[in-house]
Amino acid sequence: MKNLSFPGLPRVLIVDDEEGVREGLRGMLQREGLHVETAGSAEDGVRRVESRGFDVVFLDLNLPGADGLSMLGRLRRGTPPADVVVLTGYGTVANTVEAMRKGACDVIEKPFASDRILAVVRRSLETRQLKNELTWLQDRVRELTSTELVGLSPAIREVQTRIDQVAHAPDTTVLVTGQSGTGKELVARCIHERSARRHGPFVALNCAALTESLLEAELFGYEPGAFTGAQKEGKDGLFAVASGGTLFLDEIGEMEPTLQAKLLRVLQERSFRRVGGVQDIPADVRIVASTNRDLRQMVQAGRFREDLFYRLNVMTVHVPPLCQRAADIPLLSHFFLDQIGRQMGKALSGFTEESMETLCEYTWPGNVRELRNAVEHACIVCPNGMIDEIHLPKFTGGSLDGSDRIDRGAVVLQGEDRSIKALESQLVAKVLDDTQWNISRAAAILGINRTTLYNKIRVYELGKRPLRGKVVV
Ligand SMILES: Nc1ncnc2c1ncn2[C@@H]1O[C@H](COP(=O)(O)OP(=O)(O)OP(=O)(O)O)[C@@H](O)[C@H]1O
Ligand SMILES: [Mg+2]
Repeated sequence: MKNLSFPGLPRVLIVDDEEGVREGLRGMLQREGLHVETAGSAEDGVRRVESRGFDVVFLDLNLPGADGLSMLGRLRRGTPPADVVVLTGYGTVANTVEAMRKGACDVIEKPFASDRILAVVRRSLETRQLKNELTWLQDRVRELTSTELVGLSPAIREVQTRIDQVAHAPDTTVLVTGQSGTGKELVARCIHERSARRHGPFVALNCAALTESLLEAELFGYEPGAFTGAQKEGKDGLFAVASGGTLFLDEIGEMEPTLQAKLLRVLQERSFRRVGGVQDIPADVRIVASTNRDLRQMVQAGRFREDLFYRLNVMTVHVPPLCQRAADIPLLSHFFLDQIGRQMGKALSGFTEESMETLCEYTWPGNVRELRNAVEHACIVCPNGMIDEIHLPKFTGGSLDGSDRIDRGAVVLQGEDRSIKALESQLVAKVLDDTQWNISRAAAILGINRTTLYNKIRVYELGKRPLRGKVVV
């Protein structure tokens, strides 16, 4: 039993009214390094099980008070339920059958040999350990392949519809655009998993991570001795590895122009050549490319091939920044809390109203990835119970890029009133408008705290704040 690894000692409960039996079993099992508790009645046994679960329960059927058979179900509480081994002095067939029917895993007749007891415990613990490992692995696999694009906002629904459309055309090239951390890779995985190619591989390559020659060898593979340092027997490239599936080319905007030309050729010919090779190999892959750059602008600036741009741009999926789908923040936050809490083995029950308000009002320049990181931070810091504001990381507001930049346009004084108050009320109104009534962001721009801003809204009667989550997208 020493070779079994359990989180903590395996726990065994012995329910028997004969002290000799209880103590004999306790000594035998404790010598094997197990945690053993005993109970003289079924009621006492149930009380112990209810306070903390056990792995194995030895249960005598003939007990004073409630009999063992009727309490068997209640002794199997816990996840996973305990393995109950029935001890019986008069092993009538009826008793045994009834005990097994109620979920007992084995029946041992008294008087018992210690070998038999140890063999039963060993088998039970081994099976439980295998089951634990299996559940753990299944959870990890589910996480790794979890391609759930969480969100109910109109903006994310549009993305989901688009994914379904392109999934039905399994050979069409797709371009996924959006700021960093919006979920472009997740979208690419969703496209793969919902397409007819889902039984094939999904292979991802970050085009920014490799030099041009390495990237070429990585994509197309190479023939033996194609270049110095090449493996003797040559190597398959990702076009070959991803055959039958999807090849995800991340950060395509970073690809060098010469390689862009080679990729264009594959998209046109639907075949490729290994580096140093002369044979055309059919390319049975769907390309999903992604970028956080404005490829059209790069084309205009002469930094991205126009012909490749049009080849990639057959179907696009644009993933909007998180601030344009703020209605999804509560759902995403709970999704990550559940996911990360489970990974950490912590039972966190949710977010306080204040912490959720802070999450909803922040601008998330790092998008969904930043939100996930914030929830992970909170999960580490929060001991248990609810995530409160103090558990959240300090948000610095982050600098916003591209489409999110706020228009600093002039405030034109309306009407005759030239007072400072009139100017202030119109400035506050404009900033609130520009930030779609995001109070934290507006307060940061105005250089005042949120309470002061709420006061000004009240004093200047600037109207009601829209309901949380109803931000216009
Ligand atoms: N709608 C969503 N539902 C659930 N998880 C999401 C969602 N969007 C993004 N994520 C998660 O956020 C993280 C960042 O997403 P992803 O890596 O797909 O972003 P990206 O756009 O590819 O970022 P980058 O441009 O920086 O590579 C991942 O952990 C991803 O699983
Ligand atoms: Mg990515």
